[in-house]
Amino acid sequence: MAEGYGYGKVILFGEHFVVYGLPAIASAISDTTIATIEKSDKYELVDNRPATEGYKVTKKGEMDRSMKLLLDFMKINLENTPVKITLSGNLFCTSGIGASAAMATSIARAFSDYFKLNLNDEQINRISYEGEKGSAGTPSGIDNTCATFGGLLWFRKGEPNQIELIKIKKPIEIVMGNTGLTSETKEVVDDVRKKKDANPEEFDKIFAEEEKLVKEARAALESGNLKRIGELMNKNHEMLQKIGVSCKELDFLVNMARKNGALGAKLTGTGRGGYMVALTPGKALQDRVAVAIEKEGFMIMKTKIGV
Ligand code: MEV
Repeated sequence: MAEGYGYGKVILFGEHFVVYGLPAIASAISDTTIATIEKSDKYELVDNRPATEGYKVTKKGEMDRSMKLLLDFMKINLENTPVKITLSGNLFCTSGIGASAAMATSIARAFSDYFKLNLNDEQINRISYEGEKGSAGTPSGIDNTCATFGGLLWFRKGEPNQIELIKIKKPIEIVMGNTGLTSETKEVVDDVRKKKDANPEEFDKIFAEEEKLVKEARAALESGNLKRIGELMNKNHEMLQKIGVSCKELDFLVNMARKNGALGAKLTGTGRGGYMVALTPGKALQDRVAVAIEKEGFMIMKTKIGV
């Protein structure tokens, strides 16, 4: 049986802005989606991934588009080579965690294994990017890059993309809070584009501020200035509110995290649902913020960046 994996991710700075060539910082998380492929007499996709209620239904269109783009790019015709693809793994699928990129990457790797193509990470990343077009429409490429390579990354879309590993002194604990709401990446990305087209001057100003912020965030991460990283995450959340991608549930989780001592908190990924991420260095603070959020009835994930 052939097998492949893809990491989940958390964007710390710069989601949405990254689509327009601004820099962003994201970390892969250790949770993965696993794809297995075996010979069958007809094509079948079995999705056993753990997921937020309603996720798989809301994302069905994205998933189908993504699969078609990925297979076309790999020149695989499932009528000639029927297979059973099974998706599993410990990545809990919800908006904001890079689940679609993790899926595309895991399938690309599994097909590479199945057909003995021996593709390297660059090639896997390219295929996964193609799959991402089915989810995000005009993806920046940050999600598939994290899903493929892992690590804490500086990313800027371009020809070629700028991808640099960021080194930090020691891993930092974070808490992610799940709103339980699923959003469609393409729809939210399209809305931001409409807003930008209608308000070009306002967006020019926001973009300039965001670029400065992400550069400063990299310096703060590299020098280990946790307080500043947190402040910049808060500022980044404000910018995301301005471009219209937050929602009341995300704002609630962000405020809960801050009230309970998080050094900073913001939405992460697409927004309008999905996850918020809070900077909670040290196990005690991480636990305190996680418990407070869980008490309000939201699911949480405790993990670290820069591992
Ligand atoms: C989604 O995880 C991140 C977005 O910036 C879209 C993208 O970068 O392609 C919203």
